[in-house]
Amino acid sequence: MKKDVFVLGIHDGHNAGAALIKNGSVLAAINEERINNVKNSSGLPLEAIKRVFQIAGVEPSRLDIIAIVGLLRTHAPLKEQPLHVRLYQRLTPYVHGHAFCNLLVKTLHRFRKMDELNELFREMGISDREIFFIEHHQAHAACAYYNRPWEDKTLVLTLDGAGDCLCSTVNIGEGSGMERIASSTHYDSPSNNFYSEITGYFGLKRWEHEYKVMGLAPYGRPEHCIDEMRKLVRINPGKPLEFQNTSGAYLTQVQSRLRKRLAEQRFDNIAAACQTYYEELVSQWVRNCIKETGIRRLACAGGSFLNVKANKLIREMEEVEDAFFYPASDDGGTPVGAALEAYYRFCEREAIEAQKCALADLYYGSEYDDAQIEQALQKAGWLARASHRQDIEGEAASLLAQGKIIARFSGRDEWGPRALGNRSILADPRDMRVIRKINFAIKQRDFWMPFAPAILEERMNDYLVDARPAPYMIEAFDTREEAQQIIAGLHPFDMTARPQTVNDWNPSYRKIITEFQNLTGVGGILNTSFNLHGFPIVGTPEVALSTLEQSDLDGLILGNWLVMK
Ligand SMILES: [Fe+2]
Repeated sequence: MKKDVFVLGIHDGHNAGAALIKNGSVLAAINEERINNVKNSSGLPLEAIKRVFQIAGVEPSRLDIIAIVGLLRTHAPLKEQPLHVRLYQRLTPYVHGHAFCNLLVKTLHRFRKMDELNELFREMGISDREIFFIEHHQAHAACAYYNRPWEDKTLVLTLDGAGDCLCSTVNIGEGSGMERIASSTHYDSPSNNFYSEITGYFGLKRWEHEYKVMGLAPYGRPEHCIDEMRKLVRINPGKPLEFQNTSGAYLTQVQSRLRKRLAEQRFDNIAAACQTYYEELVSQWVRNCIKETGIRRLACAGGSFLNVKANKLIREMEEVEDAFFYPASDDGGTPVGAALEAYYRFCEREAIEAQKCALADLYYGSEYDDAQIEQALQKAGWLARASHRQDIEGEAASLLAQGKIIARFSGRDEWGPRALGNRSILADPRDMRVIRKINFAIKQRDFWMPFAPAILEERMNDYLVDARPAPYMIEAFDTREEAQQIIAGLHPFDMTARPQTVNDWNPSYRKIITEFQNLTGVGGILNTSFNLHGFPIVGTPEVALSTLEQSDLDGLILGNWLVMK
């Protein structure tokens, strides 16, 4: 009988998490933040590692191999590291070529601390399993390549702030492997040393709030300060597949320089210039990569591909035949990539035929049944105000049509940064007033940030220009006149949308939207993630109930339970 191959993927950096795959298909994956309620929780995901086995109902003893994302992440504080390692770190802004970065990664990898992880592996009875360390960008690339929706030769691009001393890679994927043909070092990162520093300049959180700059950009005019952006980073004239930092500065040093140069500029114009130049840079890079390789099908991953406006531009480029963006493109998604990469390497070595599984739904996380929910309701003192419903979907649609704002905590957690209906706040998209209500009373969001619509897949052509299924909210589209029906789910200035097209992967969620359409004629609803500002998407019924308590939500669906305020 053919042996099943189980692989555990672990990422212990920014937005740590774990994934368990069987024969190349994800059984369970969860980020630590959904368990400990700390946004982008960093460090060893000790709970997530145990949780993926529980979710999948798989005994750890069945595990074949372990894949860990990243070569140089260590859990020894820097001050505990030997002098020469600390010196390398300090020198990085001044010495930053590929040779130096390679040496740094190799050296730091030797000092990687494994004590705490090894202790957990011993506790779980898996301490004798082989560990594959998967380089950071290789893990991103594997997310994109092995999940791509076609079989053909593929141009695999990764782009992020930084990981294992790199910020971008260009790879050719064919069959069950990839060949890297170019990369840029972390010093040359257009995300870290440009976009994130503009984010910091606005007083927003670097490496987290870049999407707010993207949301602000359509309101401004880029021409007033785009030349200042052009001085910071460019495509390397001698190496067209690489970026080049031309600012002479690194990370926050860039920000200090910007303070003088942008002093007279209006904030919205700065955001516009930042996004416009970023789009110019990335599209030029993509064009160069296509020219160099002749491959026009793109698979992309890395935190920078959460920029849905840049993704839209890439998808629409004449040179691009098709583009796939892995939905959990940020570091939070890398446990899946590492596990897949290790799976393919293991299969090749052991002469096992690897199985490629097409990406479908992303409901990889925890699920709570009605009995567990009842217990949580009882404990939180909400049981008297809750009722168990036969037709929870019809009820939800009717409440939405009456203008109520309802959160939904049902089924399994979504994988990645987007709530895709199971951990979502839902509202009537016809009414612009819900924006004010959600922004101020529920999520304390920034006033300029747009919401997004969830639309029935069969209605996408009514609402979107050049529509195609977009089930993961990782791409933006221009919208048609009829999209005025879902106006609260569009960017209020440029009328673009970052939709979730809803198919039959999630029947209960789809039924709510269908029932809403039956009542109103509108084939979409507003969908935003279920969390308070600054917190991760809710991960447990207890956090869902405390979020209900601390907000002005009208109601909460928990499985088949409905709680109204
Ligand atoms: Fe990354």
